[in-house]
Amino acid sequence: MSTGLGFRLSRGVRTTISPPIPRAYEWAAQYKPTPNRPLLDMSQGVPGIPPPQFLRDAIAEASRYPNSFGYTRWDGEPTLRAALADEMKLSYGRDADITVDDVALTAGCNLAFVAVAMTLADAGDEVILPVPWMDLNLLGIKTVGLHTAPEDGFLPSVEKCEALITPRTKAIALVTPNNPTGAIYPPSLLSAFANLAASKGIALILDETYRDFVPSTDRPPHTLFSNTSLPWRNTLIQVYSFSKSYCLPGHRLGAVIASPHLLASLKTVLDCLQICPPRPVQIALGSLLPSDELREFVKGNAEGVQARHRVFREQLPGDWEVGAQGGYFAFVKHPFGGVRSEEVCQALAREVGVVTLPASFFTRETDENDGLAELGLGEEEKSGEGTSDASELDERWIRFSVANVDDEKVKRVCERLASFVPRGVE
Ligand SMILES: Cc1ncc(COP(=O)(O)O)c(C=O)c1O
Repeated sequence: MSTGLGFRLSRGVRTTISPPIPRAYEWAAQYKPTPNRPLLDMSQGVPGIPPPQFLRDAIAEASRYPNSFGYTRWDGEPTLRAALADEMKLSYGRDADITVDDVALTAGCNLAFVAVAMTLADAGDEVILPVPWMDLNLLGIKTVGLHTAPEDGFLPSVEKCEALITPRTKAIALVTPNNPTGAIYPPSLLSAFANLAASKGIALILDETYRDFVPSTDRPPHTLFSNTSLPWRNTLIQVYSFSKSYCLPGHRLGAVIASPHLLASLKTVLDCLQICPPRPVQIALGSLLPSDELREFVKGNAEGVQARHRVFREQLPGDWEVGAQGGYFAFVKHPFGGVRSEEVCQALAREVGVVTLPASFFTRETDENDGLAELGLGEEEKSGEGTSDASELDERWIRFSVANVDDEKVKRVCERLASFVPRGVE
């Protein structure tokens, strides 16, 4: 296909699936909303509410300080790094061994993940990720799919993972609570993955962007930070986002929590990608993170999302089946046998104005339009292991984000699902 460009694009970009949200919005653009039937968007994992007024005021104030216009340290403001290390002890337990020296701040968690991958792996190396996944094809790193199944609650298997490890494997990357499935990995499973990674001399990257949305129990999400028999700094690299807990995705703030030895190398990558993370938001959060007021907001926000998960589960028509739920997402099986989830999502957006993402957006290695064959790439040059187990996911599973709609809209989505049949399906 001619692009009209007088130059060639990278193979990485041509063979990477295009971003899912804009694709879903193209379907939604074909829906004709009315005042009674507005578009209902459950596609994007964004907070449905703004940050509290006192945080907005603090960011506004901080952005007026003359020093907030300059660069800061490559790893961010020390006050916020120390505050995050302390705050993590509230989540992971007072005995969690985390200090300011283990924390580097980044311009968002996506960048944190890419920077960690660039620090660990070269082009041609491998990183194992549970399917459905986000991939690393752009970096030339082979994403090896660790397939998860509905009957296992979409939890990855340690044994299957072990079988995928090769001399080129640099890391296992897990996301809990998971995007897109919502599955929450139990502490024992995370310990087993940490043991596996340690025994094989590879890293365990843990994306815990949604950690504050796990229903509160007496137990921490895991005990890896306090396990003295398996020193976490040897194996674990955690990435985190401030976007969801504090409702400020546009301010781009994330973090890497890892051994200072890893951070010393990450510095080279971060200096290249970001120089430093955005400054006013760090200054504002640095003084507010320890406050009860902000903790109350995070807790209330998480409880609101959990309550919405319950509304969604209760109101969902009986022939739609929830496979897993947690963090921002519910992973749901649609009732139309023989119709692929992508077609169902397309019809939902165009015909009844409900925007969601099909599982296939998280399982296919390449965009259908990218034309691998046109590029003359062989099988071995595709980004990742097979999609063999992916077909069932592609056919039936859909991701609903419960975060960016209110309870009323969730009910209206469920009403529309109840009377929805894609055209051509009886
Ligand atoms: C698991 C996970 N990690 C990271 C991100 C991105 O976070 P950030 O906004 O900090 O880049 C998302 C966003 O949806 C996510 O779902």
